[in-house]
Amino acid sequence: MDGAGGNEDYRAITVTRCSPRIGAEIGNIDLTRPLSELELAELKRAFTENLVLFFRDQKISFEDHVRLAEYFGTIGSHAGKKTHSKPSEDPRVRRFHFDETSVDGISGNAWHSDQSCAPIPPLGSILYMHTIPPNRGGDTVFVSMYAAYEALSDRMKSYLEGLTALHDGVLIFGDGTPRSEHPVVVRHPESGRKSLFVHGTAIRWLNGLPRDEGIAIARYLAEHARTPEFSFRFRWEPHSIAFWDNRCCHHYAINDYFPHVRSGYRVQIEGHAPPAPG
Ligand SMILES: [Fe+2]
Repeated sequence: MDGAGGNEDYRAITVTRCSPRIGAEIGNIDLTRPLSELELAELKRAFTENLVLFFRDQKISFEDHVRLAEYFGTIGSHAGKKTHSKPSEDPRVRRFHFDETSVDGISGNAWHSDQSCAPIPPLGSILYMHTIPPNRGGDTVFVSMYAAYEALSDRMKSYLEGLTALHDGVLIFGDGTPRSEHPVVVRHPESGRKSLFVHGTAIRWLNGLPRDEGIAIARYLAEHARTPEFSFRFRWEPHSIAFWDNRCCHHYAINDYFPHVRSGYRVQIEGHAPPAPG
């Protein structure tokens, strides 16, 4: 892909970069039917290169949704005990529906990667929205954790080497949810790039450091990762899809539409292995 966000080296699909560091909109593709080998190969390459892919005007069924996910891995289930999402008529698909009854909050309005508390966190998630709020709220912001890592000083990079963080699912999803220790810097299995794998939601400190120091550094990293230059803010339209790589990006679902309806479905793809140290 060239520096201006072009897609000259894609032959089947079109790939239009959304921002310098993260996100691309995929065109010339119909997700209501099986993909050709070339389309799939290009889609996988676009996913690795861009971290989160967006699709417009795709009226997909549960079957279409699951087929897209299964090109990338096995369908996963939620590690958390308490969640804001609900089951749908299909056990493989979760319903993400919020409206005037959602007085105790919505799913995802804090910086996070999905279920990092799991021993093997999900590879990614595919969220399809069929109904968006009429007040134009409900955007999702995605941030590149490659960019967050790469912007650290060399001193900070070597300081973080070998450290781990406890991802405490109980803090978010209640008793019975896993807690897992993952490296602070991880290496992506496909791109080979290093990224930060910490966020402010389920991590209180870093292991291997005195407690106060670990708390301060964890806070600093969480704040650093929110830098707008590492991010892209996606505006949903009816029948848009966002497919994010949970291993190298964080996201934040903006809760600015209550009491309007925002409604869709999500499928989660299981990770292939625990996060590898960077
Ligand atoms: Fe999420």
